[in-house]
Amino acid sequence: MATRFLLAFAICRLIVTVGLTLDPTELLRLEVEGVLSVEPADLGAASRDFGGMQNAEPLAVLHPGSAEDVARLIKAAYESGQGFTVSARGHGHSIKGQATTANGVVVQMSGSTKVAPPRVSEKFMYVDVWGGELWVDVLSSTLKYGLAPKSWTDYLYLSVGGTLSNAGISGQAFNHGPQISNIYELDVVTGKGELLTCTPKQNSELYHAVLGGLGQFGIITRARIALEKAPHRVRWIRVLYSNFSAFTQDQEYLISLHGQPATKKFDYVEGFVIVDEGLINNWRSSFFSPGNPVKISSLNADGGVLYCLEITKNYQESNSNAIDEEVGALLKKLNFIPSSEFTTDLPYVDFLDRVHKAELKLQSKNLWDVPHPWLNLFVPKSRIGDFDKGVFKGILGNKTSGPILIYPMNKKKWVAKSSTVTPDEDIFYLVAFLRSALDNGDETRTLNHLTNQNNRILRFCSDAGIKAKQYLPHYTTQQQWMDHFGDKWTLFSKRKLEFDPKNILATGQRIFTPFFNPSAPLL
Ligand SMILES: Cc1cc2nc3c(=O)[nH]c(=O)nc-3n(C[C@H](O)[C@H](O)[C@H](O)COP(=O)(O)OP(=O)(O)OC[C@H]3O[C@@H](n4cnc5c(N)ncnc54)[C@H](O)[C@@H]3O)c2cc1C
Ligand SMILES: *[C@@H]1O[C@H](CO)[C@@H](O)[C@H](O)[C@H]1NC(C)=O
Ligand SMILES: *[C@@H]1O[C@H](CO)[C@@H](O)[C@H](O)[C@H]1NC(C)=O
Repeated sequence: MATRFLLAFAICRLIVTVGLTLDPTELLRLEVEGVLSVEPADLGAASRDFGGMQNAEPLAVLHPGSAEDVARLIKAAYESGQGFTVSARGHGHSIKGQATTANGVVVQMSGSTKVAPPRVSEKFMYVDVWGGELWVDVLSSTLKYGLAPKSWTDYLYLSVGGTLSNAGISGQAFNHGPQISNIYELDVVTGKGELLTCTPKQNSELYHAVLGGLGQFGIITRARIALEKAPHRVRWIRVLYSNFSAFTQDQEYLISLHGQPATKKFDYVEGFVIVDEGLINNWRSSFFSPGNPVKISSLNADGGVLYCLEITKNYQESNSNAIDEEVGALLKKLNFIPSSEFTTDLPYVDFLDRVHKAELKLQSKNLWDVPHPWLNLFVPKSRIGDFDKGVFKGILGNKTSGPILIYPMNKKKWVAKSSTVTPDEDIFYLVAFLRSALDNGDETRTLNHLTNQNNRILRFCSDAGIKAKQYLPHYTTQQQWMDHFGDKWTLFSKRKLEFDPKNILATGQRIFTPFFNPSAPLL
C-alpha cells in the first residue's frame, strides 16, 4: 500500500516536472515487491557519487525486491507516452555522474535487503549473485566453500553490475582477463523491460553488449561468476626501478608468463609511479613501513621519478615450504634496484581487501569524501615510453595528489565481442591517476589544477598521436563517444537500437539522448 502511494507520488512529481497534468491512477497498476521512494535522503544519496563533482537528483529511487521489479519499472518507462529514464546504481563509485539521472528513476541495486543471497555451485565452480551484490560480499559467500572469483578489482566495495558494465581490472587481468572475461551467464532486463538470460551462446548479442556496456543495454540482475580454489596466503612484493624501460620490460616479461604453470609465474602484476616522496607514505603505500625507510634521493631516480613493481604469489599453507624458492627464482630474472625489495606475507582475504584498510584511515581523517578528479587510460605498449617522458617526467611536476598505477595487460584475454574499448595492440597499459582534490591552501591539489592537468594529459596524447583509450570513460558529446568507440561505434549503436530503442537507460553516461515527448500522455 505504502509502495503504491509512493509510486503515485513519484509519478505526480514527474508530471509536475514536465508541466503536464495527467491522471496517475493508470500507473497504480504497477506494484513492486521492493520500495519506491521519494524520501529526500534516498534522492540525495542517488544524486551523488564518489567523484563528488556532479549532482543530479532523480524523481524517485526504486529499491528493488526482485528482478521482476526492475522489469516492471523499465516496462512502464518503455510504454510511457512521455517517457522517463531509468538508471541502475550500484555502489555509486563512478566519478562523473554515470549512475545518476535527472528525469527519471534510479534503481538502487546495491544494499537491497530483499534480493536472493549468493548461491555457490561447488560442483561447477561458480557463484550466482544479484547484480547489486558488492564484490566483498561475493568473496565472503564463496570462501565458505574454500572458493573465490579469479579476477578482481583493487577495491571490493564495488558492485558486480557496476564493474561488469566497465570491465573490472586488477593485477590478475594479465592472466585471467578482466572480470568480464570470467562470467558464464547473466540475467538482464533490457530497455524494453524484458528479463532475459544470456550466455556466450544464448542471447549472445545481449551478453556481449552488456559486458563493458556502460549500462546502455540493460540492467544486470544476476551474474554467474567463475570460481577457483581460494589460496590461503599471499606473498606480496614491491621492488623499485629508476629506469622506466627496465621497469616496463620486466612488467611485460612477467605478463608474458600467463601460459606457464602456476608455480612459474606471479598471480598479480601491477605497479605504480612515484614522483613525490610524500607519496611513499600514501594510502596505497603503507607498505614502506618505518622499518623500511625509502629515500628517493638516495636511489638516483631518473628525472626524479621512481617506478615500483608490485607482484604477488598466492599459496596454500601446505605448500609454504616451496614458496620462497618459487618467488626467488622469479625475482632473479628481474632488473630492479638491488636491495630495493620489500616483502610482506598475509592472508588472501587481507590482500584482496587492502584498499578498504586505507579507506578507513582516510575516512578517519575526513580525506575520503572529497572530490576525485580521476583519469584512467589504456595506453598502447608501443607508446608507453613517450607517455613516461611527456607525462610522468613532464606534465605531472612533482605532486600527484594520489597514487598513479601502471601495469600492462594481454589483449587476447579480453572478450573481443564485448562493448569495452581497448587499444589496438596485443599489450596495453592501464595508467590510473587516482587523485583527491584537497582545498588545503596548496594550489597544486585543487580541483581546478588537477582537472586542468587531466586535460593537458589528454591533449598531450592526442597531439603526440598516442592512441590511448579512456577506461571508465567520460565524454560530453556524441562525437567524442564515436571517436572513443572507433570501429565499435556501429555495433554499439546498433545494439542500442535493439535493446534500448527509446534511450531510457543509464543516461548519466551521456551517450544517447532519451526521447521525451512532453505533449504525449505519460502512459
Ligand atoms: C576506490 C575505487 C577503487 C576502484 N578500483 C577499481 C579497480 O581496481 N579496477 C576497476 O576496474 N575499477 C575500479 N574502480 C572503478 C569502478 O569499477 C567503477 O567506478 C564502477 O562503475 C563502480 O561500481 P559501482 O557499483 O559503484 O557502479 P556505479 O557507479 O553505481 O555505476 C556505474 C555505471 O554502471 C551502471 N550500472 C550499475 N549497476 C548496474 C547493473 N546492475 N546493470 C547494468 N548497469 C549497471 C550505472 O548505471 C553506471 O552507468 C574503482 C573505483 C573506486 C571509487
Ligand atoms: C635502462 O634499461 C634499458 C633496458 O633494460 C637499458 O637498455 C638502458 O641502458 C638502461 N638505461 C640506463 C641509463 O641505465
Ligand atoms: C617541486 O616542483 C616545484 C616547482 O616545479 C619546485 O619549486 C620544488 O623545488 C620541487 N620540489 C621538490 C621536492 O623537488
